[in-house]
Amino acid sequence: MLVIEEGRIIDPASGRDEVGDVVIEQGRILRVGRGASANLPFHPEIRRISARGLWVVPGLIDLHVHLREPGGESKEDIVSGLQAAAAGGFTAVCSMPNTNPPNDCPAITRYQLARAQAACGVRLYPFGAITVGRRGEKLTGMWELREAGAIGVSDDGNCVTSPVLMRRALEQAKEADLLLSQHCEESSLTHDADMHEGPISALLGLRGWPPEAEEIIVARDIILNERIGARYHVAHISTRGALRWVREAKARGIPVSAEVTPHHLFLSDRAVIGYRTFCKVNPPLRSNEDIAALREALSDGTIDCVATDHAPHGPAEKKVPFSEAAPGMIGLETALPLMLKLVRHGIISPSRMVEAMSTAPARIAKIEGGTLSPGAVADITIIDPDFKWVLTPSSLHSKQCNTPWLGEEMQGVATHTIVNGRIIFERKPR
Ligand code: DOR
Repeated sequence: MLVIEEGRIIDPASGRDEVGDVVIEQGRILRVGRGASANLPFHPEIRRISARGLWVVPGLIDLHVHLREPGGESKEDIVSGLQAAAAGGFTAVCSMPNTNPPNDCPAITRYQLARAQAACGVRLYPFGAITVGRRGEKLTGMWELREAGAIGVSDDGNCVTSPVLMRRALEQAKEADLLLSQHCEESSLTHDADMHEGPISALLGLRGWPPEAEEIIVARDIILNERIGARYHVAHISTRGALRWVREAKARGIPVSAEVTPHHLFLSDRAVIGYRTFCKVNPPLRSNEDIAALREALSDGTIDCVATDHAPHGPAEKKVPFSEAAPGMIGLETALPLMLKLVRHGIISPSRMVEAMSTAPARIAKIEGGTLSPGAVADITIIDPDFKWVLTPSSLHSKQCNTPWLGEEMQGVATHTIVNGRIIFERKPR
């Protein structure tokens, strides 16, 4: 038995935000709330964690990570990626299929799930590819992917640009009850693009990625999905224009969900000045107006959830001229302190933060977790929202340190990450 005592329990699914205890037995939540552990006898087998001054929340869930295995293990692998997830407070992550070979068949899905068994205990939910080889030509066998354990499909890194293929993909994903996560990029508008198109790209002499390239795909997919009704999800939404379509679709009852990354909520295209390759991401960092719109949409629920797009790259991909650099930054270990900063600035409430990082991703991916209700699986994150630390390569558990926040002071950490009632990560007191 595990007892978490006197923490601030924040569970949006049950509307709870109060100081109390969580009692866990056999991997499930037994009791929760004020005085929940009051009548427990002293027993050496009962492990007690004092959470005084800490937040106790349903385990964080990330719908969008790149763990690079198979094929890119020198950058990250399933073991190191899941360790980074645990240290960041995540109890479950969904991996994107742009591995090498890509996860476009059941054998790769099963391989990834088997590798996760050897890791620290964070739950892995793989996405399979929408098209064979992520080439945008022929659909994968979505039923087989689902049977092997995939929870969704995506060609992330690439967009499914063909309308006819996308229509069939939505139909098949609906049949197989898989989440379809689209990387929204009309590639004819972004050929060789390096960054957001605007005054900064002009100043730096870099080729621009216009926001319309995202907006066109979001609008088109929503139009296609109106009569299909698949579980359509916009990956890493980044533009004000695309948000308008998501908002309107939701108002009209068309199924759509959307995620935003912490980096798109915090950094604008100005961060690229100096040709900082750590700030090269796809979709690119946008304008201040886009950031304001993304923050507002996260707060009002137009954007359902936060996902990191954790994208490890090494010096070979980043210590090169900007145009040659690979897009992406790591995010699993910075997401929580960044989101806590939004809370401190009054942009979202603590409860909305937990909803966006746990309740909503569990609902969207149809996976367990996302609540601290009695009977639920005991996936829990304990957070110290005040703890200050400096981000350095040695503070990271990921194999890579491609993040623009290196050297910066962060506030807030996961002190304990608990999966199935077992503590899989515990931060050593300093
Ligand atoms: O920045 C990104 N990096 N965006 C993507 O879509 C792919 C990802 C990667 O795999 O590195």
